[in-house]
Amino acid sequence: MPKFIYSFVLLILYLCLQAFVSSDAQLTEFRSIDCGATSSYEDAELGFKWETDDNYTKTGITRKMEGQDLPKQLYSYRFFTSRRNKHCYVLPVTTDTTYLLRVRLFPGSGGSSSIDLPVDFNATFNNNLFFSYSAVTDTDRVDVTYESLFHSFEREEIYLCLLPGSKGTPFINSVELRGLPDTSYIVTRNPGEFPQFMVLGDRLNMGPKPGGNSFFRYPDDDFDRFWQPAVPPRFPSFATIDESSFIENLTFFTYTPASGAGDGYNWPPNRTVIDAWVGPQLAFTIPRSRVDTDKLYASFYIAEIRPEVNITAWGVYEDFTYAVDDTSYSYSIGDRRAYTLPLNEVVLKDPKIIHVNVSHVSSSSVDGVILNGFEYYYLYDFNISATYSIDEKALDGLQESFGLQDWQGDPCFPVAWDWLTCDTEASRIQKLKLSHMNLSGPIPENISNLVELTEIYLDNNSLEGSIPESLASLPKLQILALDNNKLTGEIPPGLQNRRGFTFTGNPGLSGAGSGATAQAPGSQPPKSAAVRTIRRTDILLLGMVLWASLFLQVSI
Ligand SMILES: *[C@@H]1O[C@H](CO)[C@@H](O)[C@H](O)[C@H]1NC(C)=O
Ligand SMILES: *[C@@H]1O[C@H](CO)[C@@H](O)[C@H](O)[C@H]1NC(C)=O
Ligand SMILES: *[C@@H]1O[C@H](CO)[C@@H](O)[C@H](O)[C@H]1NC(C)=O
Ligand SMILES: *[C@@H]1O[C@H](CO)[C@@H](O)[C@H](O)[C@H]1NC(C)=O
Ligand SMILES: *[C@@H]1O[C@H](CO)[C@@H](O)[C@H](O)[C@H]1NC(C)=O
Ligand SMILES: *[C@@H]1O[C@H](CO)[C@@H](O)[C@H](O)[C@H]1NC(C)=O
Ligand SMILES: *[C@@H]1O[C@H](CO)[C@@H](O)[C@H](O)[C@H]1NC(C)=O
Ligand SMILES: *[C@@H]1O[C@H](CO)[C@@H](O)[C@H](O)[C@H]1NC(C)=O
Ligand SMILES: *[C@@H]1O[C@H](CO)[C@@H](O)[C@H](O)[C@H]1NC(C)=O
Ligand SMILES: *[C@@H]1O[C@H](CO)[C@@H](O)[C@H](O)[C@H]1NC(C)=O
Repeated sequence: MPKFIYSFVLLILYLCLQAFVSSDAQLTEFRSIDCGATSSYEDAELGFKWETDDNYTKTGITRKMEGQDLPKQLYSYRFFTSRRNKHCYVLPVTTDTTYLLRVRLFPGSGGSSSIDLPVDFNATFNNNLFFSYSAVTDTDRVDVTYESLFHSFEREEIYLCLLPGSKGTPFINSVELRGLPDTSYIVTRNPGEFPQFMVLGDRLNMGPKPGGNSFFRYPDDDFDRFWQPAVPPRFPSFATIDESSFIENLTFFTYTPASGAGDGYNWPPNRTVIDAWVGPQLAFTIPRSRVDTDKLYASFYIAEIRPEVNITAWGVYEDFTYAVDDTSYSYSIGDRRAYTLPLNEVVLKDPKIIHVNVSHVSSSSVDGVILNGFEYYYLYDFNISATYSIDEKALDGLQESFGLQDWQGDPCFPVAWDWLTCDTEASRIQKLKLSHMNLSGPIPENISNLVELTEIYLDNNSLEGSIPESLASLPKLQILALDNNKLTGEIPPGLQNRRGFTFTGNPGLSGAGSGATAQAPGSQPPKSAAVRTIRRTDILLLGMVLWASLFLQVSI
């Protein structure tokens, strides 16, 4: 067995000056949302326009905190005290675009306007788990950032939902969407395979000068990715090199990969490639934060910025089993290049720790290897489950009619709205559980478009008007509870005398089961029901009801 395996040589992409410049031109949309802010503002440091979240969510309470050490948007938040299965943001996106989605959380430093601990909740992007958040003690009162990447395909909006856990109230401080060039992170599209939802593990800049704040984002990175400095004590103290003038003399290369097309360029920013770790073996470990997937994606950003090197061959080993055999890898001044090595689907040897080791393939090399930047992601097959569109449209009409528009996100996924039960296999609505919801107005016809409904509970509301006849056409309906409302008119014949259909407590309603002793003439009881003869008193009562309703209408 060879010590290392030249398993899948994917591709080498040479990036250069021109590539960096062209990335500027592709800068697409940036959307920055300060959750809980009372007005929009421009970020003095970055020049971003921060919007309030008012247009994107309809529930929750906003609050401001004191403080100035962190970015302004972290000192306001929206939190969700009402007990719901989920609280969603609906965010507009452009179709067929790759996005970075970033959420930042800061529960406050413990003052009266801070979030109470403990708190735990999950966040989902459409039907994918984005992150699980938990803060227990005051040491957890720090700001945390979550990043993911996805492709919008034909979607024009996406759902970011917070799912309450067992403790506390979910909250959110900021949401950022960054459009990326379509050559980057192509695994989000994965032509011919499952597109991937990517959750960031780490994004690291190797070799920054010690001291100072060496974290960076926009404008150093056109796409506003967050780059963390890879420094001790978290990482070994490797020798570093800083060649800020490197960019000036970068030579342009183009390279068409023979295999593995589709990995794309991930465009490392200038600041990532101008400094680096150098040494005979650049080996480090990273704790694995997510264990619910076996698929990882890593990008090594390698730019040869040393004036002159002589490397016979180099490779990247350990978990990211990968090697590039680039014999005669020898440069002179002015002949420098940068390239990314995106890798797919790494299976880890250790379930808890990721081992990374960049070193020579050949011991005959004179100079050490180099690593300028590194990032890795956890990959998930993009879960496309969504409520069947006809059902979703019917629900739209029903929500509008009942004033339930503050229920947002997909009706069934990842968890159903509290007043729905879904058949998740078929993505259809099965039960409407709207008892005691203070609903008023008429029962909308749209309900009848939910053809898979088996149970409808609309009892104990203030519904008015007549019962839509179309309800009788629902083929699977077993329970229809309309008790204790203000419904009027005749119960449609097709709904009368059916087991599980209840109408009592609607004084203005007539027909079998209305609770009144009247039964409409000519009503057709279902075949199974015993045929009853119409008594004189029934007709008399019906007449009185009709007369009374006529009188009421005239007097209004
Ligand atoms: C909400 O959206 C509307 C229409 O796009 C816009 O006019 C308005 O300024 C937005 N409100 C906020 C608070 O961003
Ligand atoms: C949150 O996600 C975790 C997995 O990280 C899962 O075990 C848990 O059930 C989820 N909780 C909720 C409320 O969705
Ligand atoms: C870049 O190239 C110019 C012209 O060839 C040269 O004078 C300069 O020293 C080079 N800079 C670096 C950092 O190599
Ligand atoms: C990267 O460096 C090149 C060459 O100096 C420059 O043209 C480009 O604007 C730089 N990009 C950024 C984002 O600074
Ligand atoms: C690079 O190293 C090899 C092996 O030590 C040597 O044969 C070769 O001459 C060196 N090339 C340069 C340009 O230093
Ligand atoms: C890194 O890989 C090289 C080449 O396979 C090996 O010699 C070295 O022991 C590895 N280092 C660590 C820390 O695993
Ligand atoms: C997508 O989510 C649904 C329901 O949450 C689940 O049943 C299904 O297995 C998931 N599909 C994939 C590909 O993960
Ligand atoms: C729902 O039904 C009402 C009539 O009851 C109709 O006016 C409305 O357009 C429908 N809405 C949808 C989304 O189908
Ligand atoms: C019920 O709805 C009415 C208006 O439709 C509103 O005035 C009232 O406050 C609501 N009651 C509750 C308990 O939500
Ligand atoms: C509806 O109201 C009736 C009478 O007030 C009550 O007995 C019943 O429990 C209520 N049902 C629901 C689901 O609220």
